[in-house]
Amino acid sequence: MTGNENIWHTDVSWRQEPALGSVLRLSEVPALGGDTLWCDMGAAYDNLPDEIKERIDGLTAIHDFTSTFGRFLPPDVLEAKQAEFPPAEHPIVRTHPETGRKTLFVNAIFTIRIVGLEEEQSEQLLNYLFSQAHIPEYQIRFRWEPNSVAFWDNRATQHYAVSDYFPNRRVAERVSIAGDRPF
Ligand SMILES: [Fe+2]
Repeated sequence: MTGNENIWHTDVSWRQEPALGSVLRLSEVPALGGDTLWCDMGAAYDNLPDEIKERIDGLTAIHDFTSTFGRFLPPDVLEAKQAEFPPAEHPIVRTHPETGRKTLFVNAIFTIRIVGLEEEQSEQLLNYLFSQAHIPEYQIRFRWEPNSVAFWDNRATQHYAVSDYFPNRRVAERVSIAGDRPF
């Protein structure tokens, strides 16, 4: 697949303290396309079957940027980045620090394995959990206009930037807000 950010994800979940949220403004918007979707990961958690909730209760997963952003870095820069940001271990179910709501906190870009499971089991379970973000009932889809501003909570959502506007341009400015360690 080509494009940028067109896989469901939570920003910088590979940090020990992932961003609280982001503010994004689009200064140049294609006439058609370039929408952004967000998914409510609290709803995704709430609607999991009980046996899955029991299975993931207390489990943690590893988040790492090496196989995504890391691919584009020269080896020496990659090594320095890996030293600065070693893989992060986060609970699969995190608790929102303000609302207390449980949210499903694994994503298809950065979450690479579940701690304590065999690789095959980890992959199967992760793929199932990733697929919850694909359920339209949990999503909203935002159509940008020039100078639209979106502000999202990275602790409670995942997002997906639709890459359907080539060769038109889509120009964005983003500010990320520092977050805390997931628990
Ligand atoms: Fe993103």
